Amino acid sequence: MRLPTSTLLALLPLASCQLDYWAKKAGLKYFGAATDTPGFRERAPFPQSYSKYDAIFADPKEFGQTTPTNGQKWLFTEPEPGVFNFTEGEVVAGLAASTGKILRCHALVWHSQLAPWVETTEWTPDALRAAIKRHVAGVAGHWKGRCYAWDVVNEALDEDGTYRKSVFYNVLGDEYIKLAFQAAAEADPGAKLYYNDYGIERPASVKTAGAKRIVKLLKDAGIRIDGVGMQAHLHADNHPTMQDHVDTMEAYAALGVQEIAFTELDVRIKVPVTPKNETKLAWQKESYQFVAEACVRVKACVGITLWDFYDPFSWIPDVFPDNGSALLWFEDFTKHPAYDGIIDTFKRLAANGTRAVTTRRFRA
Ligand code: XIL
Repeated sequence: MRLPTSTLLALLPLASCQLDYWAKKAGLKYFGAATDTPGFRERAPFPQSYSKYDAIFADPKEFGQTTPTNGQKWLFTEPEPGVFNFTEGEVVAGLAASTGKILRCHALVWHSQLAPWVETTEWTPDALRAAIKRHVAGVAGHWKGRCYAWDVVNEALDEDGTYRKSVFYNVLGDEYIKLAFQAAAEADPGAKLYYNDYGIERPASVKTAGAKRIVKLLKDAGIRIDGVGMQAHLHADNHPTMQDHVDTMEAYAALGVQEIAFTELDVRIKVPVTPKNETKLAWQKESYQFVAEACVRVKACVGITLWDFYDPFSWIPDVFPDNGSALLWFEDFTKHPAYDGIIDTFKRLAANGTRAVTTRRFRA
């Protein structure tokens, strides 16, 4: 039987199984992908990919949320003291609006990609307090009402779980964290305020203990913190189990944060990744599925954000040269096995009504 083209086109969305569509069926608020300014940084060498990339990104059933991977960082938003520039950040904020996606905003106070003046100034505590307040008020104030959530403080912990010795910590100690959250709450009362970090996805990790300490620090001071963002830059060959994710998220929720999100998910594979290595891709698939399932099983988990979705645009090979293929679309735009794995997980959990009967502990 020959079907008319219009019928075939109508069937297409189902045939390609979109991520946000199935995440929502399973009970999440969104499944999203971070993106960057077209033509910039990692993506600059691949102009031939832009039209296919843009079409996938724009599909509202594929991605219901986005985050700018760079444009809202201090380096771009306040390059000189008190001089604000929102041009870069507006690119992805504009894409979110034009493609109907929830916007997560990233990141107000972070030691990396800082404007150079922040690190070269000889600060008195009062002057740095004022600079943090001005930055947060300026940036969160500019996007007021448009950010579903803000990563207010990013990566305040060192690898050993103690506070990272950033310029902020060295001058102000943990007070800078309180200041940043207070200023963000004043600047954008409607945005969910998150602490965001990597390596905080396993229950026994020293960094998870550090993240809990930060939540308590704020709660004890009566300062609003709404969420913990687990960046989840994972490794295919040694990834957290589903139960690890569940236990970690339950521990954050038990401290009184309303929500938790996977904010920068990618699962790196050690090179060589081509020719396509089935074993490594199977580990990666399992890792992505554990994240998807855990998020559905923990009521406080609102959604999952990939740190971009197309391998050539990933930050991983640039920063960790022995790793790659961390996302869900290969360079030739075929999908990783993990893509169907995530969809299958959402479909199964949606059919079982898992979200509605979430238990505090789950054993497979
Ligand atoms: C990365 C960007 O993706 C890169 O383009 C940039 O060169 C470096 O930063 N944790 C974070 C993100 O919170 O902001 C980082 O993003 C990746 C690690």
